[in-house]
Amino acid sequence: MPDSYEDVDLASLYDTINVWGPSDDFYLDLVMAAESVLDVGCGTGLLLKTARDRGHRGRLVGLDPATGMLAQARTRDDVDWIQGDLSTVSFDREFDLVFMTGHVFQIFTTDEQASAVLSAARQALRPTGRLAFESLNPEPMPWRNWVPRNASTYTAPDGTDFRVVHDIVWEDGDLVHLTETYEGPRWSEPQVDQATMRFASVEKIDQLLAGNGFEVERRYGFWDRSPYAPASKEIITVATPRPRPADH
Ligand SMILES: C[S@@+](CC[C@H](N)C(=O)[O-])C[C@H]1O[C@@H](n2cnc3c(N)ncnc32)[C@H](O)[C@@H]1O
Repeated sequence: MPDSYEDVDLASLYDTINVWGPSDDFYLDLVMAAESVLDVGCGTGLLLKTARDRGHRGRLVGLDPATGMLAQARTRDDVDWIQGDLSTVSFDREFDLVFMTGHVFQIFTTDEQASAVLSAARQALRPTGRLAFESLNPEPMPWRNWVPRNASTYTAPDGTDFRVVHDIVWEDGDLVHLTETYEGPRWSEPQVDQATMRFASVEKIDQLLAGNGFEVERRYGFWDRSPYAPASKEIITVATPRPRPADH
C-alpha cells in the first residue's frame, strides 16, 4: 500500500489534494438515499462525514486498512470507523449501500483480489441493496497524462506549499505502476510513493460482477450520469445482488 495512506503527515494532505468534486456529489446522493452504508476504502472519511452533516441519521461505516487515513477520519466520532479491509472484517447482509470511490477498485490488481472484494461486498449487502464503484476507463489511456510536466502545487493546511509529481514507471497489460512524489519545505527530501493500479476493461468488470452474483443496474461514463461510451473517462457502476437461496 502507498506510504501516503499509512503515513499520518502525508495522509493529512489528502483532502487538500482531493477536494470535494462531482464524484462526491454522485456518491452522496446514493448515501443519503440508503439507511445503512459501508464505505470500503473510506480514506479520510470525507463522504460519510458530509452525509452526517447533511442529516443522515442511519448507520454509516467507514472501512480502511491505512493508519494515516483513519487518523484523519477519526477526527469525528459520529461515524463508525473500522481499520481493516473486506478480507479481515466481514459483514452479513447488513447494508443498503456498499460503495468504493477514489478508484479504490483499481487497487485490486488481480481477478482473485477483485473477486474476493466483490464477493465480500455481496455478502455485506441486504438482498435489496446496491453496490456502487468506479474505475478509470482504460480506453483513453489516462495515465499517459500523469507525467512530471503536469505536476500540481498545493497549499497545506499549515500554509506551506508542496508539489505532487506523478510518473509512470511501467505498463504491463492492464496494470500501471506509478510513483507519486511529494516535494516541499515540510520534508528534508522528496517523499516517493509507489503504487500499482489496474485498468480493467468494462467487459472485465462485468465478468467479475457476474461471477460474484451481481447484475449491473446502471452504468455511467461520467459523474453527470451520461451513459458509458468507449471514450468515457470513467466506468461507473451501480449493481444489484442477484437473489440466492439464502435470501429467501
Ligand atoms: C485513493 S484513496 C480513496 C479514499 C476515499 N475513498 C476517497 O474517495 O477519497 C484509496 C484508499 O483505499 C484504501 N485501501 C488500500 N487498500 C485497501 C483494501 N485492500 N481495501 C480497502 N481499502 C483499501 C487506502 O488506504 C486509501 O484510503
